[in-house]
This record gives sequence, structure tokens and C-alpha cells, in this order.
Amino acid sequence: MSSIVVLSGSPSATSRTAALAGLLSERLRGHGHDLRLIHVRDLPAQALLHADFADPAIVDVTAAITAADGVVVASPVYKAAYTGLLKSLLDLLPQFALAGKTVLPVLTGGSPAHVLALDYALRPVLSSLGAHHVVPGWFVLDKHIEVSATGVVLHADSEKPLLSVVDTFAAVLDGAPATVPLAG
Ligand SMILES: Cc1cc2nc3c(=O)[nH]c(=O)nc-3n(C[C@H](O)[C@H](O)[C@H](O)COP(=O)(O)O)c2cc1C
Repeated sequence: MSSIVVLSGSPSATSRTAALAGLLSERLRGHGHDLRLIHVRDLPAQALLHADFADPAIVDVTAAITAADGVVVASPVYKAAYTGLLKSLLDLLPQFALAGKTVLPVLTGGSPAHVLALDYALRPVLSSLGAHHVVPGWFVLDKHIEVSATGVVLHADSEKPLLSVVDTFAAVLDGAPATVPLAG
């Protein structure tokens, strides 16, 4: 069993990314992994905005990430990149906080035109944090995520490829090579 931290970086109270992060967390729990889902919007804003490294909530999250074997980083695309909220937390982590960890990047967005934000915006910051093992991630169109009182439903065009990268991430944590079957 590996320990995994899932970061959800949307500031929205009705976040599709958060719903997706919950779905992914359940999937990973189903693989037998130990999960902690962290919504960055629930961390103290004062600590994030004033770079208060010593705030107990920041210390706690930093410790959880440091101790984790795997980290899922999920964010909506804002202005062709990940959110400033997510960055405000990443900026408070130690320089190589993701060294030695397997990392799964996931973005949600309104336009397929910004699918490359995954590789040109999110991936570089993960590498800068020391992540050498960033497995293939996925960009999910917001219109493919339907959130209701009973849960979250993904459009078939997104469900299969997303679950495929999640299952690969889980398998890599179990020691398998990072090969994702082509969607289709
Ligand atoms: C301030 C803001 C900026 C956005 N910028 C982009 C963008 O540049 N590209 C894009 O594809 N979607 C953009 N979107 C759409 C969101 O990425 C998309 O709806 C996402 O799924 C919202 O996730 P959330 O519900 O978790 O906040 C933007 C949304 C907001 C509110």
C-alpha cells in the first residue's frame, strides 16, 4: 500500500476539479492505497498569501506531501495555466518536495485549445519541485464533468482515458512500468 496525497487547486466552492479529485481518490482507495485529499481552498488564505511557512496547516500539508509516495496534482486551467491558488501552496513547499515521488497531473478546462497547459504549464513546475517521475496525465473538459447531489459522472470520452492514467499511476506505485494503453 502506498500513501497518496491528492491536491485539488480550484478556488471554486462548486468545483468540478474538486469533484473529479474526489472520484480519483475513491478509485485510488479501491486500488488499496492510503489517500489524503487536500482542497487548497480550505487552507488559511492568510498563510497562503503571506507565505507563512510556519502556519500549522501549511506545516501539516507539507509533512503529508513529504511523507507521500505519490501525489496527484489537480487544477482547473485559469488563463492558460494552473490556478494561482495551487501555485500559492506549491510556493510554500520545500524546493524538492516532490523528489522521489510518483506524480500524476490532472487539469480541467473549458477549451481543448488549452490542453497543452498540462505539459507546458503544470509539468514544468512539478519538475522544478524535484519530480522526476511524472506519469502521463489528462486534461478533462469541464462539460464532461457532471456533478450532482449523488456524485460525479464523466462523459464517456473523458472517463476511459482519465481512469486509464489513474490506474497506470496506481500500478506504477505498485512497481509497474508507466505505460498507458492508448485510449480509443
Ligand atoms: C478565472 C477563470 C479563468 C479560466 N481560464 C481558462 C483558460 O484559460 N482555458 C480554459 O480552457 N478554461 C479556462 N477556464 C475554465 C475552467 O478551467 C473550467 O471551467 C474548469 O473546469 C473549472 O474548474 P472548477 O469548477 O474546478 O473551478 C477559466 C475559468 C475561470 C473561472
